[in-house]
Amino acid sequence: MTRGRVTYGCTACGAATGQWAGRCPACGAWGTVEQRTAVPGGSAGGPAPEPVALPLAGASEERLSTGFEGMDRVLGGGLVPGSAVLLAGEPGIGKSTLLLQVLARLADEGRRGLLASGEESAAQAGARARRLRLAPGFATYVPGRDLAAVAGAAEAAKPDVLVVDSIQAIRHPDHAGLPGGAAQVRLCADRLVGLAKERGVAVVLAGQVTKDGEVAGPRTLEHAVDVVCSFDGDPRTGLRMLGGGKNRFGSEGELAWFEMGPDGLSEIDPTALLAGAGAEPGAALALMAAGRRAVALEIHALLGSSEGPPRRHVTGLDPRRFGLVAAVVDRRGGRALGASELFGAAAGGVRVDDPGCDLAVAAALASAATGTPPPPATAFVGEVSLTGAVRPAPSLAARLSAAAAAGVRTVFCAGEARPPEGVRIVPVRGIREALRWAAEDPSHLFSPPPDEPVTPAPTG
Ligand code: TYD
Ligand code: MG
Repeated sequence: MTRGRVTYGCTACGAATGQWAGRCPACGAWGTVEQRTAVPGGSAGGPAPEPVALPLAGASEERLSTGFEGMDRVLGGGLVPGSAVLLAGEPGIGKSTLLLQVLARLADEGRRGLLASGEESAAQAGARARRLRLAPGFATYVPGRDLAAVAGAAEAAKPDVLVVDSIQAIRHPDHAGLPGGAAQVRLCADRLVGLAKERGVAVVLAGQVTKDGEVAGPRTLEHAVDVVCSFDGDPRTGLRMLGGGKNRFGSEGELAWFEMGPDGLSEIDPTALLAGAGAEPGAALALMAAGRRAVALEIHALLGSSEGPPRRHVTGLDPRRFGLVAAVVDRRGGRALGASELFGAAAGGVRVDDPGCDLAVAAALASAATGTPPPPATAFVGEVSLTGAVRPAPSLAARLSAAAAAGVRTVFCAGEARPPEGVRIVPVRGIREALRWAAEDPSHLFSPPPDEPVTPAPTG
């Protein structure tokens, strides 16, 4: 006699536990492990699967091109059939727009797409497609609020690509939690990833993150999917970045650049937008690594007078690294920043979390402090340590190629590399030598400004 397969899982975090337990081994919650029922369209309770030989050769190397060269690169060569991708981003950044355009481009290649939207009705999605001037009928639509309905529709329509927009809007019918809650998101993602594997469909999940990246959804989702990419940018500017995180099929850290215009997103080369015109006090050029590539990016700094304890304000920069670099420039570089209110920003709303940009941040601060712009057509690469040493940054070759592409002629950097033609390296090991151009002795710049000469008021 065989017993039907019974599964258990945590209703708080959604983890499968294998057996009943008083406390969830994954999240530690008490009394949350319950028996699970099979989802309609699922395989639980069915006959046990036949083991097959591992296909070593001829395994699916197939990739579906998204029609965006940079996005394909971020994904590791395109969408892989039978895989799940999470596209995470803040509301309004352009996830739905991008995914609609991808579905249209896939249709041009004869691929069938199914859009399961829990955020837009068919009419609303259609209106957006018209605004984007997409050819009619490039994909089919199903409301995306009920997991069972979406799974059923996907099994009936057999699409090559299933887009679920968004994972926060969909609900597992057997779970009482609200859509968007940790348990719901995890259960639904689990089922959709299962669907991808079972049916060989490429599943793309759009996931909302809040301003601080804190949401039940995408963080817990990252474990479930094969590829994570994040869509970023400043909603006010048209510039958008698609960055690759975890990737089972390609390298991590790749970046693709887009511009949001009246006809939706188009891929761009960001060099002209981010490298700036240069030669302004407070601006210094970084060469930011992004996967196997790099991009020239202007870093801006400004000093303000401070009434109370001086604060540091950043846009796009890591506040802790900014504070550290400012302290080093202050103490080791001989530039008295300590008492000033400091502002730092990366051009174009780009988020920088590459320590190789430290030296450019230091250069921007030194330049802002002294009023001396860095030498023309110059970039700065290196990680700054608390001792004032400048350490080599990884991917130097890629950074130097980005320098050449941006018209940079001189790169102050730590470490050794053969520069491309037309680019000269100035090797630096310490912050002082790297910032010497700012002024040999800038201390006078920090003494209180002389009083305005007072013109005696005319008398009589
Ligand atoms: P959307 O794709 O809805 O963002 P998300 O799905 O990430 O929430 O993008 C919404 C924003 O994009 C909205 O503010 C309007 C803007 N937009 C354009 O600028 N041009 C366009 O062609 C479209 C469709 C949207
Ligand atoms: Mg959306």
